[in-house]
Amino acid sequence: MNVSEQIGVSGRELGGLRAAAQKDSPDPRAAQGLPATIAAIAAAHRPSNKPFFARLASLPGNIARDPRMLGELYLAYQAAMHATRAAVYYLPHLDSPALRQRKLQIFVDDDGLANGDTHHYQLSRAFRNIGAICPLGDEDFGEPDELAPHLDSQTAAFVRLARTLYGRSLGPWCIVETMSVDWMRALADALAVHFPGMASEPYFADCFDQGVEERHALEAVAVTQLVLERRPEYLAVTIEDAKTMAEALDGVWAAMDAILTAAVERHGVDP
Ligand SMILES: [Fe+2]
Repeated sequence: MNVSEQIGVSGRELGGLRAAAQKDSPDPRAAQGLPATIAAIAAAHRPSNKPFFARLASLPGNIARDPRMLGELYLAYQAAMHATRAAVYYLPHLDSPALRQRKLQIFVDDDGLANGDTHHYQLSRAFRNIGAICPLGDEDFGEPDELAPHLDSQTAAFVRLARTLYGRSLGPWCIVETMSVDWMRALADALAVHFPGMASEPYFADCFDQGVEERHALEAVAVTQLVLERRPEYLAVTIEDAKTMAEALDGVWAAMDAILTAAVERHGVDP
């Protein structure tokens, strides 16, 4: 089954959307196809289909509990998440009072949790609770140029791209929010094989219980459609940036898979 079939959109319709996005005089109606286009990109890059998650779940227990490996996984994942959380503060085209309110709610969901908590702090606690040696402190996650030297090349590329592309169009925000519930469930499920308490860590449990990422996905696409109905000339860059961000995210999962391979080799077991 190809991507078009998976999301119930014909190849002709997808082709039409791309053509509408690329032609010189954009049609405001082209924004109507944005949800299907974003869904198609998400289906083509679905995180849970990447080998990393299944390999993490099937690791021998002693390797899965390796504090160094857990810390390396934490660093790559937190860096990628941090990059997107920081980058939403640079989103363009959302300057009207009503759109600022909707944007603010996204900020609050990440950085304005009860009692001064944040998704960043929830995630670092979740990994420390399973014994990870986290290579960086929470407040060491800052500018892309400061963070990149601590990262592998693919995760560093994602971090730099997030800052650049989130500030240019709303496409990267749409695709990341659309895919996030998939990778959060895949990561929670893989870690829970080795650490049953992971499923109840607030980073995962609060998000799943409240449907936060599903709401973000709908909101990001709806807000972007509103913008594109008024400014259809932004459609092409919106779709292009969404694709670029999805490809960069593939690189993060590949980098995390390489961390598993290195740990397996350190422990002297065939990968
Ligand atoms: Fe989100």
